[in-house]
Amino acid sequence: MRTFFIAGNWKMNTLPGEAAQLVDAIVSSKSVQEAPSSVIVAMFPPHLSLTSAIEAAGKFRVSIGGQNCHHKEHGAYTGEISASVLAHIGCSHVIVGHSERRRDHGETNELIGQKATRAITSGLIPIICVGETLAEHEAGRTKEVVGAQLSEILNAAGKEIVAGSIIAYEPVWAIGTGRAATPQQAQDVHQFIRHWLDEHQTPNLPILYGGSVTPENASALFACEDIDGALVGGASLKHESFCAIIDAAAKASTQ
Ligand code: PGA
Repeated sequence: MRTFFIAGNWKMNTLPGEAAQLVDAIVSSKSVQEAPSSVIVAMFPPHLSLTSAIEAAGKFRVSIGGQNCHHKEHGAYTGEISASVLAHIGCSHVIVGHSERRRDHGETNELIGQKATRAITSGLIPIICVGETLAEHEAGRTKEVVGAQLSEILNAAGKEIVAGSIIAYEPVWAIGTGRAATPQQAQDVHQFIRHWLDEHQTPNLPILYGGSVTPENASALFACEDIDGALVGGASLKHESFCAIIDAAAKASTQ
């Protein structure tokens, strides 16, 4: 049975009450209730909605995580959120290096490696995002760019940290555009990442695909050998579509 990790990145959406309602709708759905243990479901609400999401998740077998954390343990960093606070309130995971943070906050691979390190030392599992821009994609530079991102993150974090992480391949041109990578395109890059990780002695990591995943394309993506799940943005904000993606993973897991 293959294991799938289905993560919903809610970005800057949902008030605390709405987050609780969405978590409640997802955890009480047949999709989650009847999902095999090989399907792991995680949701990433905005920071101030985390507590109500965690309360709503209650005893159900779903994970809640943060969308970002600071690389330092604590200190004079106004407006930042620490990994230890996320762990303390009950988060299990944290997304680091999402392309929107790279773009809007100038996050570098070195910083992302430091954040992954802080996450692990605080007891969180980091989901490390990599992916090329449209210009890089069109120039045929995808693997070169993704390989360089992984190298720089590995240099900053070290093997032990990367080995405890989850990787999300998210082509920037596919995020929020409705233009997902085709299963073949995604599989090709995932296979490249899988080989890269093997060569750098950090094997067996889950590799998620992200970028316009929907109930319509999820099954074809999950049928690919090296796609171990999805990081879902837009389609994770409605319980119907997120649950349909969980269903697709459940089906793929038993095939
Ligand atoms: P999308 O976002 O599913 O809306 O394309 C994915 C992501 O940013 O993680």
